[in-house]
Amino acid sequence: MEPLEKINSFTQQAYNLAAQKYHDLFHNEINKKEYDRKLLDSFAIRFNKDSLVCEAGCGPSGHIGRYLSDKGIKVVGVDISEKCVEFARIYNPDMKFECSDISSMPFDDNSFNGLISFYSIINTPKIYVNRIFTEFRRVIKPDGYLLVAVKAGTNEGYIDNLLEIKTKIYSTLFTPEEIVAYFSGAGFLLEFFDKRKPYDFEISNERIFAIGKKV
Ligand SMILES: C[S@@+](CC[C@H](N)C(=O)[O-])C[C@H]1O[C@@H](n2cnc3c(N)ncnc32)[C@H](O)[C@@H]1O
Repeated sequence: MEPLEKINSFTQQAYNLAAQKYHDLFHNEINKKEYDRKLLDSFAIRFNKDSLVCEAGCGPSGHIGRYLSDKGIKVVGVDISEKCVEFARIYNPDMKFECSDISSMPFDDNSFNGLISFYSIINTPKIYVNRIFTEFRRVIKPDGYLLVAVKAGTNEGYIDNLLEIKTKIYSTLFTPEEIVAYFSGAGFLLEFFDKRKPYDFEISNERIFAIGKKV
């Protein structure tokens, strides 16, 4: 397996290329996903107006973090793609964003009351995903919460396009058992775990959602 730095450099380049298209396609998508809105609502009630939440892998729209920010929660978005961060800052001028790899973030220990990773571990090979969960644990305060969303499946490997833009990017699908193991391995107590079928406008993989508490 190549070093994670090499894999991350492909992720960065691919999302730099696809940032505008990703935004155009997905910035309003949450409006069509009632399940996801209810899930984010149930995550949001764990916080108050003094809470700080990180959205790890926020993409160019920052729209998942924005959903929480609109509820009065302070949100910091993080993404490895400079283009995504540049766009996210333009579209969300009242929110903060950092350009960083989510396996090594520029935050102190115990910085956040919660962290959302919505489809942001999906470009990392499984053998490296524990590093990301260890980093999530480091930056989340004791008793803080982690929400992770992924696409379900077993395959992983490089693909040759992102949103039909020719590029090279690693793509990883996860089984429920793997997600449960990442949470418990990093010291999170699972409070919620569910799968849903894809909406008809989504890629045809089931979705896995999990919320854990740092213990
Ligand atoms: C599928 S998009 C998800 C964006 C947004 N969270 C959403 O749900 O629409 C994945 C995002 O995660 C970012 N990402 C992937 N691996 C990352 C890493 N190791 N560090 C930081 N960002 C990463 C990508 O650049 C991309 O913007």
